[in-house]
Amino acid sequence: MTTFVSPAAPEHVAIIMDGNGRWANERGMPRTFGHKQGMESLHSVVRTAGDIGIKYLTLFAFSSENWRRPETEIIDLFGLLKTFVRRDLADLHARNVRVRVIGERSNLKSDILGLLIEAEEKTKNNSGMTLVIAFNYGARDEITRAVASLVRDVQAGLLPASAITDDAISARLDTAGIPDPDVIIRTSGEERLSNFLLWQAAYSELIFVPEYWPDFGKENFLAALSQYSSRNRRFGGLKPAASVAGS
Ligand code: IPE
Ligand code: IPE
Ligand code: MG
Repeated sequence: MTTFVSPAAPEHVAIIMDGNGRWANERGMPRTFGHKQGMESLHSVVRTAGDIGIKYLTLFAFSSENWRRPETEIIDLFGLLKTFVRRDLADLHARNVRVRVIGERSNLKSDILGLLIEAEEKTKNNSGMTLVIAFNYGARDEITRAVASLVRDVQAGLLPASAITDDAISARLDTAGIPDPDVIIRTSGEERLSNFLLWQAAYSELIFVPEYWPDFGKENFLAALSQYSSRNRRFGGLKPAASVAGS
């Protein structure tokens, strides 16, 4: 057995869709124009990912810290998500896509929550790509909720403290049952995770591209995936001797 994996195609791709505001500003337009244009990139990436056989695509749509933005922008972002679900759900369903939503739900209004639940329910038996929408998502919040739920079970005597393991925490994250992302792509030139999938990203390959999200098209996406396939993933192990000799 070898711990060296040269990844041909990723099973799970996660994307931090960033740079909408700057894209719009550079055109003298309001930020909301950038968010609207970003929806075009989202459509193209979802279609391409499905076409090339990616099993899981996670998109960071709204972070738990994005509440710090002006209310008008928050309303716009929520409006775009609602439009996306209303307009595209039938098409996603027809293409056998399964939708999952990760993030905190308790502080969402019932209209948006209802739409998110409808998307999950309608597509839950689909067997094609899983589209994971990270909405009102923050990794620290997610990990905190997972640990708190384990501690509650320990305190209630349902579990021994020794049951708090790596796997037990993973199983209580919003991403339970979803493999960790093989690669996380962030657009717009920023090189940070911004509280995205911190637990799951332990061994993810990170790819930062300069394009703003509204400029990120199919070719950019395929180029990022090709960059991923040239990476060597070792997971703490060693390169096989042949590979070391050649380097
Ligand atoms: C990404 O673009 C969209 C969200 C964060 C919801 P931004 O809105 O962050 O755009 P910039 O980074 O300010 O350019
Ligand atoms: C991360 O982008 C969140 C989403 C893409 C939804 P931000 O634009 O919020 O991140 P920071 O503030 O630049 O780190
Ligand atoms: Mg940003």
